[in-house]
Amino acid sequence: MSLTGVPPPTEGHPLPRQLKPLKRALAVAAVALAAFSLQPGSAQATPEPSDPGPSVVGGTRAQQGEFPWMVRLSMGCGGAVYSKQIVLTAAHCVDGSGPDTSITATVGDVDLKGSKAISVKSAQVLQAPGYNGKGKDWALIKLAKPVSQPTLKIAETAADNNGEFTIAGWGADREGGQQQRYLLKAKVPFVDDATCKKAYGNQLTPGDEICAGYIDKGGVDTCQGDSGGPMFRKDAAGGWIQVGIVSWGQGCAEPGYPGVYSEVSTFAADIKKAAQSLGG
Ligand code: ARG
Repeated sequence: MSLTGVPPPTEGHPLPRQLKPLKRALAVAAVALAAFSLQPGSAQATPEPSDPGPSVVGGTRAQQGEFPWMVRLSMGCGGAVYSKQIVLTAAHCVDGSGPDTSITATVGDVDLKGSKAISVKSAQVLQAPGYNGKGKDWALIKLAKPVSQPTLKIAETAADNNGEFTIAGWGADREGGQQQRYLLKAKVPFVDDATCKKAYGNQLTPGDEICAGYIDKGGVDTCQGDSGGPMFRKDAAGGWIQVGIVSWGQGCAEPGYPGVYSEVSTFAADIKKAAQSLGG
């Protein structure tokens, strides 16, 4: 995937922790926002689906029912059904913790405008305790009522933090591209911390983050608007297990720059505890 207008990583290099200033400072060059950012898809364009066609860079359409726990969030992020009434997403997709009825979660249909699509309002948000823009990029959204979707199990150990992962979302299908109406999916290989550090240096928080992508060629990746959505694989028992949460990257699908995901196994105990505090 060849992309234009992308500054080298040394220029316009907003760190993940600078997310809030970035979100608010509209004067910041759009190119910098597009090139290296944590912001949800809505920050630069409408979160509404518009252009049917291939989300996730280098992806193909997911089948109806293939990933039934996929969630689209109205601020322009993804998520996964963690329990009947709780969605797991990224901390950078939400604005802190507390009662919040402003978010709409859509589940049940690969087509956001499809007849099976169900929308439910949020009731409460819990952002990872201590989240400051570097690492800890997870959050829970408690829904106003339960959904009937199956849940996606989260990785509680590092056993599955390797191999080939599946990514999916309604985000942009290319760097600077539009949000999608139809769910896209793709597969990306695990990238170890040492290799990922070569790309990102100290911007990477290795214990909190797991990288994935085709280092040499690029071409396949999550992108703006996929944030908060799950990265997953089959576990030893043959069931889907969530190993990552879409977090950030240098542009999308650029050679040399893998996607960076929250390492779910690191936070599994905290997530479980937080979900219990929200009433399951
Ligand atoms: N921060 C983006 C979002 O809010 C996700 C970026 C993922 N980037 C990547 N190259 N994998 O949607």
